[in-house]
Amino acid sequence: MTKVWLRRIRSLSVVYTVVLVAANLYFYNYAKILSVFHPPSDIRFNLYGDPQIEGDAKLQRQPRVGRLDLLINDYYLHHVYKSTISAFRPRYAVTMGDIFSSQWVSRAEYYKRIHRFKWISNQIDARNNTIDGGDHRHFYLAGNHDIGYGEETRAYHINRYTNNFGPLNREWLVDIGGTVTDDQHDNEHNVASAGLHRVVVLNAMNLDATRMEKYRHEAWDFVRSLAGERSKHPDIPLILFLHIPLNKPDGVCEPQPTIILDDGFVAYQDYLSPATSAYLLHCLKPTIVFNGHDHNGCLATHAVWPETNTPVILGASGRVLTSTEDLCSLTLDELDVYSSKIEDFAQSTISTTGSSNMTGASAWTAIEITVRSAMGAYNG
Ligand SMILES: *[C@@H]1O[C@H](CO)[C@@H](O)[C@H](O)[C@H]1NC(C)=O
Ligand SMILES: *[C@@H]1O[C@H](CO)[C@@H](O)[C@H](O)[C@H]1NC(C)=O
Repeated sequence: MTKVWLRRIRSLSVVYTVVLVAANLYFYNYAKILSVFHPPSDIRFNLYGDPQIEGDAKLQRQPRVGRLDLLINDYYLHHVYKSTISAFRPRYAVTMGDIFSSQWVSRAEYYKRIHRFKWISNQIDARNNTIDGGDHRHFYLAGNHDIGYGEETRAYHINRYTNNFGPLNREWLVDIGGTVTDDQHDNEHNVASAGLHRVVVLNAMNLDATRMEKYRHEAWDFVRSLAGERSKHPDIPLILFLHIPLNKPDGVCEPQPTIILDDGFVAYQDYLSPATSAYLLHCLKPTIVFNGHDHNGCLATHAVWPETNTPVILGASGRVLTSTEDLCSLTLDELDVYSSKIEDFAQSTISTTGSSNMTGASAWTAIEITVRSAMGAYNG
């Protein structure tokens, strides 16, 4: 009798071990396995949502558990970056903002985290040697935990971000053939190519009311110049990167999105204001918009009506903007007056299916993908 039981227990434990090993192998090689089912593409972007790595503040709260937590988290995120980069061989590895967990970290802690992040994202090895990324490049978006919301904007935080992670607003053309025209406006020769895409990164933290106007004007000058460029070359698909998602009605991706102002400046926001969102959608005409910020991830499709019938209504004034040009020529002051009172048909008729339900051949769509956070349980 006992012998039979022993044998059963032994075979059960064998099964258990086999299942565990299989599960482990599966999760460890998850990126590789997924890549097998992924069709090859011409330009591949690997997107990493808000890693938000913690540091000294956590160690003060939980000296022992915190240390272990940070260590495990660093290894976990390192595995995420390394395995997906090696499996998908992207042209670009993009971290979607909120690289660290606080915009207020001290100088010494900031450099410690940069060092950890470089290792996590597989840019240096454990001995501080630079890892040759082959033909892939990293780029970053600035999030609220990197440079703060509009109300918190400080030159010091912005400068240390740009010194370490590059410009806040930038664009370049990328050709599926492999040529990259970095950070510059057209060069007619390139624009002729059929495989061309425009990649744009915007400082979403300073598009709405910002205490330091300088940074807001920088972002808007960039947006306006880009809008002019877009109207000249509308056929080049635009891939737009923003840390903060575009405005959407309640319940589409967030139950009740909010914008909190302090002193008239943004102290918190789930989405960009309706006016900024309308401007970016109609005047930049993105084909696809990627963002981070919300941690859960979401998919939304904005259907934009044709040029001749852009139904944007300016709040209480009741003024209906019937052309894209009317909207795109509004000044920043005018946009501010209507900031939250703008009604944009493209923002209210949204679907979350990845395709639009708008019939009528002349409507075009912008797909917006909010990237889920790379954090283990989305909150560290
Ligand atoms: C790598 O660089 C960091 C920061 O510059 C330093 O703290 C660390 O000790 C270095 N590690 C090695 C193995 O040299
Ligand atoms: C389709 O569009 C209408 C507005 O025209 C909107 O009310 C509806 O929710 C959309 N349906 C889906 C499934 O997205």
